[in-house]
Amino acid sequence: MFINFWYPACEADELVADKPLHVKMLGLEFALFRDSKGVAHCVSNVCVHRGASLAHGKVKGDCIECPYHGWQFRGDDGSCTKIPSLGNDAKIPARAKIDSYPVQEKYGLVFCFLGDLPETERPPLMDIPEWGKEGWKITRVVNQWQANYLRSQENTLDPAHTEFVHPSMGYQGGREDYNVPDLEVIEREWGVGTMTKFVSPDLPSSAMKGVKGEGQMEAGAGNHGPAHAWTYLHFSKFAMAHQYSFKLPISQNEFKSFFVQFRNFKLEDAVDAPMLERTKAVGEQDRVVVERIEPRLIPESSTEEVLVKADLVITRYREMLQMWEDKGWRIDVEKLNALKDKKAFAIPSPARRTQKGWALDPVPLIPAKDAHLANRQAAE
Ligand code: FES
Ligand SMILES: [Fe+2]
Repeated sequence: MFINFWYPACEADELVADKPLHVKMLGLEFALFRDSKGVAHCVSNVCVHRGASLAHGKVKGDCIECPYHGWQFRGDDGSCTKIPSLGNDAKIPARAKIDSYPVQEKYGLVFCFLGDLPETERPPLMDIPEWGKEGWKITRVVNQWQANYLRSQENTLDPAHTEFVHPSMGYQGGREDYNVPDLEVIEREWGVGTMTKFVSPDLPSSAMKGVKGEGQMEAGAGNHGPAHAWTYLHFSKFAMAHQYSFKLPISQNEFKSFFVQFRNFKLEDAVDAPMLERTKAVGEQDRVVVERIEPRLIPESSTEEVLVKADLVITRYREMLQMWEDKGWRIDVEKLNALKDKKAFAIPSPARRTQKGWALDPVPLIPAKDAHLANRQAAE
């Protein structure tokens, strides 16, 4: 799991006024709430007084109030504004503050930036060009899988599984002339991907009747950062589905996927439900394979698997993960789990770059290899 990316915490309408929401992300706990103006905030869930769960407290104006002794913390900067036991004129200790994370609401979701990078250096959220565009109909679905989210990302990027895992798009190897053509890799700053042409059967579901017959279609996918992905399904020149999945690693072996899907055909509302049914059925076909993959995590060395040329995009994706690990952005989950009962950790928030004196240690990270960053860490 990686810090310094945007993660979807919940759907925007799950976060209601006056009610904090408890969300687990990257193996740690967070409290989300809306302030007096309805602006969404995300803070580290552990109260720095004596460790109670802030998400189980109350919203008080622009603050969240701890359920244990009533300390109040601002959503926007995590500063403590009230310690009731000290009385009204209390001097608040400088260390009485919690990490507060940048939040943006987009695509009907609440995204939190879990990391300490300043604004100008942050990887951007994945862009959805179809958002708000006429001629595209949106549907959304949320899934939760008991699997490592990186293994699921690899499944999304994999052009060779479609033939075998999805009967609506392939023939389970039943065609003599089946193979995966040489892949052209699409390289972007925060991701890689590919599009391929292949022969697929007529679409059996009632929602897809008349969209295409048996024949050639084009499909492909790519990642954006470690946890987001796009999938394009071009059934014909005119009928396309563009899907975007924003994954939230709850822990190493469990994730939620917030799936935002657009189509430019059969735009009537009545088609939404059967379309979602189809998306769920296809997702279910992936889930039963991915949840059983061993090891649950991507192996540390690619010599522990036998990769072929159809795995090219997956190989490139793994190289990107390594690059982000080398920047010092990867959580050391083994260390975190080993210390879990002894220590509460926080994902470092941007304020840690400028302020000292935090009660909680930052989450253990695999040390940076990147020379520049390594030097800076050494200097600190
Ligand atoms: S533990 Fe939160 S106020 Fe005491
Ligand atoms: Fe799939």
